Order: sequence, then structure tokens, then C-alpha cells
Amino acid sequence: MMKILITGANGLVGKKLTRKLASNKNLEVIATSLKKIYVEGATTFTSNLLNADINHMVDDIHPDIIVHCAALSSPDACEVDRFACHRMNVELTKKIVSACIDYHVHLIFLSTDFVFDGTKGNYLEDDDPNPVNYYGESKLEAERLITTSGVSSTIVRTSLVYGFEPKLSRPNILTRVIENLEKGKAYKVPSDQIRTPTYAEDLAWALEQVCLNKIAGTFHVSGQEVTTVADFAKQVARAFNLDENLINPVSSSELNEAAPRPRNTSLQLNKFKSAINYNPTPIELALNKILNYRIQIQT
Ligand SMILES: NC(=O)c1ccc[n+]([C@@H]2O[C@H](COP(=O)([O-])OP(=O)(O)OC[C@H]3O[C@@H](n4cnc5c(N)ncnc54)[C@H](OP(=O)(O)O)[C@@H]3O)[C@@H](O)[C@H]2O)c1
Repeated sequence: MMKILITGANGLVGKKLTRKLASNKNLEVIATSLKKIYVEGATTFTSNLLNADINHMVDDIHPDIIVHCAALSSPDACEVDRFACHRMNVELTKKIVSACIDYHVHLIFLSTDFVFDGTKGNYLEDDDPNPVNYYGESKLEAERLITTSGVSSTIVRTSLVYGFEPKLSRPNILTRVIENLEKGKAYKVPSDQIRTPTYAEDLAWALEQVCLNKIAGTFHVSGQEVTTVADFAKQVARAFNLDENLINPVSSSELNEAAPRPRNTSLQLNKFKSAINYNPTPIELALNKILNYRIQIQT
């Protein structure tokens, strides 16, 4: 039976993936997170990976695959604490790469559309990266150390992942819109940032396929509709029957965030689509599914 170790299992991507893989009876799933979590069908344990003996952990578990989702994933947090960002996104990845080489483990690394500068859009995997913020720089540095190390690997670059899970440690665009609008609060969103938002369940499905088919290389895996963050936020408001007039589209400069954001990081999916039969859920349908899931788990 294939054994898969997932890091960052309390994050949006890690949690969806742990659930997805744990429901596959042909996989043995071990998931680690900072805070204790319970996922039916998976073995979970807590670990601060920054203090862990990664070699010992990998030797002990001996997985076939590690899906490394743990990261400092807030661009603003990375910008203000570059040291912490480098430690988490680069140095930890380096230790994981080294353990994967020693124990013959395939590594799946979650990377980002923020490796691009956003001047072009519709990015291909081979387009030149040129990050505009430190988060993007750190993920690119991690990508490069993976690809030059010789480790068996898959790099999955994704974009603006949205979804709902109870007790998520970090909000995402969807939960932010809902939280603000349900309280009747106006919410400022950038009208000049163009993305291909990713339904978290689609990403989990795609990662499962990567595991099952041992697909190696660098791939763009996101949704396929190109939209501004503001238009996406309005779509969320409409789907959740909230007042879309509370969405306040502003330019990025008005948001005054610590990390600069790339303008258009929409991703081209053809390479991944030809590797597997990937057909991302249309946003409108995905939002309806999330609405139903939220009702189902809250009742
Ligand atoms: N979400 C997006 O839009 C997006 C877009 C592009 C790429 N990505 C990449 O996809 C991956 C997953 O993203 P995500 O949205 O699921 O991020 P997330 O919600 O922030 O999850 C990252 C997880 O890493 C954990 N973590 C942080 N420091 C740790 C440590 N020292 N030891 C152990 N675990 C630690 C966090 O634990 P706590 O929960 O306890 O803080 C968190 O659960 C990341 O690599 C991210 O860079 C995400």
C-alpha cells in the first residue's frame, strides 16, 4: 500500500488533501500539523517542523511520497519577517529534500503563481519567474533547490486557493468575504489583481492524481477562469446571498499591504491537462458546492 506523508495538514490545502487521500482505501495517510487535528482514516501527529529532526521523521515513517504543504504562506508575514520566511519556506524544504534523497521518497512541493511578476499573465511552466515579493522569492528558491538536487519531485504551482473548513488557521478570500459581509461590514478587495482562483477540492483531487500516477515535473494547477480578485469576491457574495455592494473594489496601492502583489498571475493549465484528465470545476458550481458543504457541517 502506498504511504503518503502530508505536512501542513491544518492548512486549507493540507486539510482538504488529507481528507481526500484518507478516503482512498488504497492509501496509507499520515498527516502532520502544528495543532492537533483529527481526520477519519488518517494517522495524525503534531510537530513543529522547524524544531523536528526531519531525517529521523522520514526514516521512522518511511513514506513513498511526501506532500509538503506546510509553509509561511502569508505574503505580508513573509515580507515583514524575511528570516522566519526563509527558515520555513527554504531551509525546512532543504532538509526535506535531503531526507527524500536519502530515503528514496518522492517529494510533491506546493508552490505559487507569485513566482511570476504578473506583467504577462497566462503563464506557462517554462516562463521566466521574477517574483515581486519575498514570499515569491522564497518559494522560487525552494523550487530551485528541489530541481537542482536530483530528488524525484513534482512542483505544483497554484493560485488563490478558496474553500471552507471549520477551524482553519488562516482565512482565505472566500472566508474573508463571508465573514465581513455576514457582519454587514464593507470589504476592500483589489480590482487590479488578476488570478485563476483554485477550488481547494480540485487541487486536492489533482494532488491525489499526482500521487497515484507519480507524475514528476513542474505543473500549473489552478482554476481556469481568469478574473480579478474583486470580481471573484462579488461572485462569492452573490453565491452566498450576501450584499455584493459591500465589496469595495480598490487599487492595490490603496490596500497598503506590506508585500507588493503581482498584477496578472493567471496560469496556463495545458501541461497538467495533458498529463492527467484535469477539468477544474467552474467557479459558480464550486461556490454552490461550498455553500452546501458549509450548511451540511454546520447543522
Ligand atoms: N492558499 C493559496 O492561495 C496558495 C496559493 C499558492 C500557493 N500556496 C501554497 O500551498 C501550500 C498550502 O497553502 P495553504 O493555503 O494551505 O497554507 P496555510 O493554510 O497557511 O497552511 C500552511 C500550514 O503550514 C503550517 N505550518 C506553519 N509553520 C509550521 C511549522 N513550523 N511546523 C509545522 N507546520 C507549520 C501551518 O500551521 P498552522 O495552521 O498551525 O499555522 C499551516 O497549517 C503552501 O505551500 C502555500 O505556499 C497556497
